[in-house]
Amino acid sequence: MERENFASKVGAILAAAGSAVGLGNVWRFPIETGQNGGAAFIIIYIICIIVLGLPIMISEFLIGRYTHSNTAGAYRILSDGSPWKWVGRLGVFTGWFILCYYSVVGGWTMHYTFLSADNVFSGVPAKEFGDIFDGFASNPWKPLFWLYLFIGIIHFVITKGVQSGIEKSAKLMMPTLFIITVVLTVCSVSLPGASKGLEFLLKPDWSKVDSGVILQAMGQAFFSLSLGMGCLCTYASYFDKKTPLGKTAVNVSLIDTFIAIMAGFIIFPSVFNIGMNPNEVGVGASLTFISLPNVFQHAFGDGSILAILFSTLFYFLLFVAALTSAISLHEVATAYVTEEFKLSRKKGAAIVTLTILVLGTLCSLSFGPLSDVKVFDRNFFSMFDDFSGMVLLPLGGMLISIFSGWVLDRQLYRNEISNGGDLRTPYFKLLIFSLRYIAPIAIGLVFLGQLGVFELIGMQ
Ligand code: PFF
Repeated sequence: MERENFASKVGAILAAAGSAVGLGNVWRFPIETGQNGGAAFIIIYIICIIVLGLPIMISEFLIGRYTHSNTAGAYRILSDGSPWKWVGRLGVFTGWFILCYYSVVGGWTMHYTFLSADNVFSGVPAKEFGDIFDGFASNPWKPLFWLYLFIGIIHFVITKGVQSGIEKSAKLMMPTLFIITVVLTVCSVSLPGASKGLEFLLKPDWSKVDSGVILQAMGQAFFSLSLGMGCLCTYASYFDKKTPLGKTAVNVSLIDTFIAIMAGFIIFPSVFNIGMNPNEVGVGASLTFISLPNVFQHAFGDGSILAILFSTLFYFLLFVAALTSAISLHEVATAYVTEEFKLSRKKGAAIVTLTILVLGTLCSLSFGPLSDVKVFDRNFFSMFDDFSGMVLLPLGGMLISIFSGWVLDRQLYRNEISNGGDLRTPYFKLLIFSLRYIAPIAIGLVFLGQLGVFELIGMQ
């Protein structure tokens, strides 16, 4: 079967950046930064990206491009029949798993875009925003409608193929996302009192930094860069042999970090403008769908055109960010099903979409009719979220770094990142050192930290 490549280097970078820039940039990074020492957290986060993120991203790129295969196939080819082949399968499974709950939130962002545009939030008392969200999320039908629409859009893009689907949509959506980010940032930092918000976000406070904060920064860097599973490996299997892997990884990381910091510039000036305590805005869904609609409404004038526009653009931005990430997750599974079971792209994508529809439905209903159904003491949504974030991603990341540092042939590694000797790679030894020692140990600590092992033995 003829395998497609991305048509251009820009397309390749934008697609990978589209995977990285997602909900994590907006609903987790800014609040983690504000609460954990501002610029101090940002510096630690950037160190995590340089020391751990870049080496693993380059390895994932390399594994994908060298094998020109889906993630499971890639590890199978490189593992010579050893059990390392399971790392690829784990990656595919992780992506599939994340997509189930991620799409539910993608659907919510669409609903909130429409609610904002329809001026539904005007005149609503602050304490009622929670009821609006709970009423929506617990309704058996409405969230499903948006979930199915979201999945339908992903399916449409995926079936169009690598160039006309993934690359074309990334070339359209990433610049759109960038422009909206800049517009919202400018509006937000011009609000009276914005400087207090920026101070909260940026003032370095090293006293807040402890081992827990460092672990948090590592975990966030990991999720945000889409590492530890098959996404970047799958996308890199569509890179051509001339794509510079190191430079592409640096560009993707820069774009991802820029958008994450800008998300803080969008959120906190408004929070301070209305005199709200930033430690009470929440994180994740409660920040995004309960605190922020209220914050934007009041910061820009309840019911005013500016408030409507700002809020609508913000949720549209979230929708675009979630969509490009979800497309990359779907592609991991689609490439796997299509290539490993020798199916057409249409059939492969349909199988993946069907499973997401079923499992996504369970996740969505876990806020309503299925809220009492618990797996490992959690509802479906939390189980999918926690299991992938706390177990599958760190495990995948650790195995990928060990595999690329210890198992993969060094000459092959060097040859690939230098594009057959065409590019200089003065960082090669450092890269291997990180993959062999620093990354596995650091990620291992994140893993134990997330499982609560340190608390259990009284170290935190
Ligand atoms: N990086 C995305 C975010 O920050 O929201 C989430 C994500 C996408 C994680 C794709 C993992 C992945 F493979």
